[in-house]
Formats: sequence, structure tokens, C-alpha cells
Amino acid sequence: MRKNNVYIETYGCQMNVADTEIVLGILKKQGYEVTDKPENADVILLNTCSIRENAEQRIYGRIGNLKTLKYKNPGLVLGVLGCMAERLKKDLIDEKKVVDIVVGPDEYRSLPEYIDIAFNGDKGIGVKLSRTETYDDIEPHREDGLSAWISVMRGCDKFCTFCVVPYTRGRERSRSLQSIITELENLSLRGFKDVTLLGQNVNSYRDEHPDNEVDFADLLAAAAQVDRSMRIRFTTSHPQDLSDKLLYTIAEHPNLCNYIHLPVQSGSNRILELMNRTYTVEHYLNLIEKARKIIPGVSFSTDIISGFPTETWEDHLATIEVMKQVRYDGAYMFKYSPREGTKAFKMFDDVPEEVKSKRLQEIIDVQHQISFEKNQELIGTNEIILVEGLSKKSNNFIAGRTDTNKVVIVPVDEKIKIGDYVKVKINKATSGTLFGDYISHIEIAKEDVTVSV
Ligand code: SAH
Ligand code: SF4
Ligand code: F3S
Repeated sequence: MRKNNVYIETYGCQMNVADTEIVLGILKKQGYEVTDKPENADVILLNTCSIRENAEQRIYGRIGNLKTLKYKNPGLVLGVLGCMAERLKKDLIDEKKVVDIVVGPDEYRSLPEYIDIAFNGDKGIGVKLSRTETYDDIEPHREDGLSAWISVMRGCDKFCTFCVVPYTRGRERSRSLQSIITELENLSLRGFKDVTLLGQNVNSYRDEHPDNEVDFADLLAAAAQVDRSMRIRFTTSHPQDLSDKLLYTIAEHPNLCNYIHLPVQSGSNRILELMNRTYTVEHYLNLIEKARKIIPGVSFSTDIISGFPTETWEDHLATIEVMKQVRYDGAYMFKYSPREGTKAFKMFDDVPEEVKSKRLQEIIDVQHQISFEKNQELIGTNEIILVEGLSKKSNNFIAGRTDTNKVVIVPVDEKIKIGDYVKVKINKATSGTLFGDYISHIEIAKEDVTVSV
């Protein structure tokens, strides 16, 4: 019998990227083949995101153009997975008749059954959330490469008032430390060199045992020891829960990257309270200062929302002030988008669209200037990069990344191969990219614990 081909597209955050690998792991076990061409597929899946209105609009657009494939091949099954599936449930099928199945993030184990229902001409809907599902035992389907993502926990209990994630991903739950370490060991054997541990708030990671409890710092310490030549990153940290223990752990292990994504969202205490972020600007700035003392050279990125309900000009200036104080290495900046079902949705979305856009542009400009200045300061310094491949813009250059997550471009050299660690001297910088010259190779053994620039 001919095997069924599945094609999947992934939208949204890295958790969705990791989930797509879990979905493909489940389907491959059932005999499906993965294809990268939608026109060859028997099943097309969209793993979707609901975080902002425009994320959903994009997916509606995509469903619209996949319709034509469905006309050509009426047996084709079109499925919506991920956060939009969870948020809109049956409405998605009622509204978009071409959609055959809607399966939320905690029901992927049953996906093969829902697809079979659709093959038999019915519609399938699986949107129950779970308090326990972590897909601990599923082997994700990963292409060979350098970088990988591992979800170490699912869900979120923070309920920031603007955010749909607690509704689309359900309650917080963690995977066992042992299953994560086993996955890291396998990635190490396959030659992966850069692994990011994922969770909406990794600092609430817990693996509970009767006699001892393992927290996120313990998990990171264990992860760092699997293979010293493998860099370990993590995202996202909520500023309320980032512990001193975690900072000391990062400082102690050279392969735990000196990079923390620490979303601030706003620089105004009044807005932070309305957002239910549960920290103040003072707490946040203290944390940054402490982290910089404990982890010399640590870099920070952040998320910022502009135009949250009732945000005044002064609130906006307070956000810019925080950006100038922290001097982030990078930022993801968004216009507030009201999401039905969240607490903020009931607040009046009173900041006009043009004002939101203007404030967002100002924030982007400030960050651009800071990134530029910070990168300029690195000219003349030596950095260790992990070589990732040819530069996107030119085959005469290769691209690598520092452990602080900055991209460095170096002229092609036959000595340098993908996956090598090399020392480079920075000679030029823009706001988004560093340029350097090759100095030497750095050998890092799996057991190594000391790496110096
Ligand atoms: N768990 C992570 C973030 C997940 S969503 C954290 O707590 O930081 C990624 C980012 O999207 C958020 O940090 C926030 O800046 C942005 N975001 C979430 N909901 C939004 C909304 N309704 N409108 C605009 N931006 C939003
Ligand atoms: Fe959303 Fe807040 Fe949870 Fe992040 S911590 S996923 S912003 S509710
Ligand atoms: Fe989007 Fe869901 Fe991630 S809403 S950002 S895909 S958790």
C-alpha cells in the first residue's frame, strides 16, 4: 500500500517548531512519510499561532490559498493544529469549510485517529487541554543539523492580561529531567552543537521527586554536563522567577550561553500592574544589575508591547527610559493586539492605531541605535563563534554565532567547517551583524570545562 505523505507548515514561536517535530515523530511512527511539497501531500497541517491578530490573519490567508489544492485533490486532508486550533475550536471548521480537522497542542497523540476520521469523510476536532501531557516518551522527528529545540515544559500559569497562551496551551507542567537528558545525549551523538531548552516560563520548571525537587537551575547544570562542546540556551525567563541560583549556574558552566531573554513588556509600573506582570521596574533593573555582576559579559534581549490600554505618553517614555538604562542587545517589539478571552480584552483599547505605530517606531529606533552602539564597542575584541554555514548574503562569507547570540560574518577559509568553534577578531559592526577575521580554531572536548577567549 502506498504510504500517506504529510506536509506541515509551522507558525509562531519555537515551541511550535518543537511541537511540529513531535507531531512528525508521532505520524512517522504510524507510517507516514514527510514531504516538503504541499502538492504531493495527502495530509496538509498548519501548526498555528494566535498571539496577535495579524498572526491569525496570515493563517486565514494561507488556508485560503490551500483551497485550490483541495479542489484538485478532494481526498486531501487539511488540518489546523496549535494555538489557533485551541482558541477557535469548532468555529474554525464552521467558518472555513475546507478545514477537516482541528487539533490542539495537548491532543497530538490522537492526531492519527483524527486524520483517519477525515479520510473517512468526517470532520475531526480534538481540543482538550491536559494537566499532564508532556510528550516525554515521543521521539521528535529532527533533520540532522547543528541547532535543536527541546520543550522542557508546556503551558503557562502566569496569566499576563494581554496573553492568549494560558488559554491555548493550558496549565504549566514539566518533563522529567531524565527524559530531557536522554534527548540531549542523543543530540550530542548526532553532532548537534546548539540546543535551546524551551518553555513559556522556564524558571517555573520543576521535576518533583519524593526526596528532592529539581528546579530549572539543576536542569541546566545537568544539561551542561552532557557534552561540553554543545552550547545550551534557554527561553523564556519571567523576571519574577529568575533566581540567583540560576545566575550562578550560568556563570559556572562555560557552555551555558551568556544570554538571557528577559521580556520587560513595559517600563511603567502602572502598566506592568495592569498587565499582571507581577514585578516592578525597580525589581527588573536590580535583576539586570545582579546578573551583570554574576555573569560578566552577559547579553540581554527583551520583548516590548507598545500601546497597551491606557498607556500614556509618560508610560511610553518610561519604557524608552528602561531600554536606555538596560541597553539591550536585542528586542522583539510589538503593537498591542487585543485578544478575545483575555482580561485585557475587557479594557478599552484606547490608544489609537496611529499612536501605537508611532510609539512602536520610536521604540524600534531607540533599540536600533543601542544595538549599533553596543556592537561598535566590540570592534577590536576577540569572540568565539560556532560556525553555522555560509552567510545568507554571499557565498564568500561564512556565518557563526557568539554565545551571546550575535551573528558574526567571516571570510570563507578552507580551514573552517560547519560546526567548528573558531576565535575571530571583530573588525566591523552594524546594528544587526558583526564582521570579523579568523584567528584560530578552538578545540572543545566533550568533557572540557574551561574555555577562554
Ligand atoms: N512566555 C513569554 C512570551 C510569549 S509570547 C514571556 O512571558 O515572555 C511572546 C511575546 O509576544 C510576549 O512577550 C509579548 O511581548 C508579545 N505578546 C503577547 N501577547 C500579545 C498581545 N496581545 N499583543 C501584542 N504582543 C503580545
Ligand atoms: Fe503569556 Fe505571560 Fe505566560 Fe508569557 S508569561 S506566555 S506573556 S501569560
Ligand atoms: Fe503563538 Fe502559541 Fe507560541 S500563540 S507564540 S504559537 S504558544
